[in-house]
Amino acid sequence: MNFKESTVLITGAGTGMGLAAAKWFSEQGSRVVMVARNEQRLKNEAAQLKNASYIICDLSLPEQLHFLVENIKLNYQDINVVFLNAGVATNYTLLDNNQAYETSIKEMSTNFHPVVYLTHQLAPLLELKKDAAFIITTSGVAFAPDLSHPTYSATKAALHNYILGLRLVLQRKESPIKIYELMAPLVDTPFSQAVQSDLKVSPDSVIERLITGIESQEYEIRPGLSEDIYQTYLRSPLEALLMVNQATGA
Ligand SMILES: NC(=O)c1ccc[n+]([C@@H]2O[C@H](COP(=O)([O-])OP(=O)(O)OC[C@H]3O[C@@H](n4cnc5c(N)ncnc54)[C@H](OP(=O)(O)O)[C@@H]3O)[C@@H](O)[C@H]2O)c1
Repeated sequence: MNFKESTVLITGAGTGMGLAAAKWFSEQGSRVVMVARNEQRLKNEAAQLKNASYIICDLSLPEQLHFLVENIKLNYQDINVVFLNAGVATNYTLLDNNQAYETSIKEMSTNFHPVVYLTHQLAPLLELKKDAAFIITTSGVAFAPDLSHPTYSATKAALHNYILGLRLVLQRKESPIKIYELMAPLVDTPFSQAVQSDLKVSPDSVIERLITGIESQEYEIRPGLSEDIYQTYLRSPLEALLMVNQATGA
């Protein structure tokens, strides 16, 4: 992929890994379109980057998702890379919380359903490009649930499963669109504040690993701990479950 001439849409771009990716792409000379809910944060961060603009969108709301796609089709037709990275998680214990049902709806409608919508809506636009890619952030917990974020873990397992299917369909169609899955490990971002662990790595290091993965045509990119979970999972799913919960202290 030639990142220098890319136009990259990044969701969850105001903080954490999305912001680290926005900085990286901007430094390479790409045009960056940053998406999130917090306007002030996006405005401040975009102002510090070269070639960056932003769109405010709550991805969990269907009408805002629809408007986002209309905006892209009208104003950002040159987008060739879409990094679907936004996510939320709620820290609770199963059967201790009578809000589990509502929590799971909020998590699915942010972490999963927008990815289905945006990949379907934007694939026709990407298909016209030479270097076209969706990058989607999942997690090592796609293989084994973290008991302190149980329904969140299930959203990432669903997303991982969806990505496998989508990649195969695109390959069968001989589509130029590539699908990269970033299976993030424990990363030091606002998202993971509630998790006490010395295994956290920096968002910049994860984005560096993502890029080297893409450059070496790896499609499932598992930095550090995620690779350890994956290798353990292949040997023993139960061992992987214990490993994840040891890492998060759950
Ligand atoms: N940090 C970790 O340990 C870890 C581990 C594995 C996977 N991940 C995944 O990595 C991704 C990025 O998270 P991060 O760690 O970089 O944390 P982060 O800094 O909290 O980033 C999450 C981003 O998602 C945006 N967002 C949340 N809900 C949204 C909504 N409804 N509509 C639009 N944007 C929304 C937030 O911005 P606004 O609040 O402004 O909307 C925020 O910028 C997530 O998918 C997360 O599940 C994180």
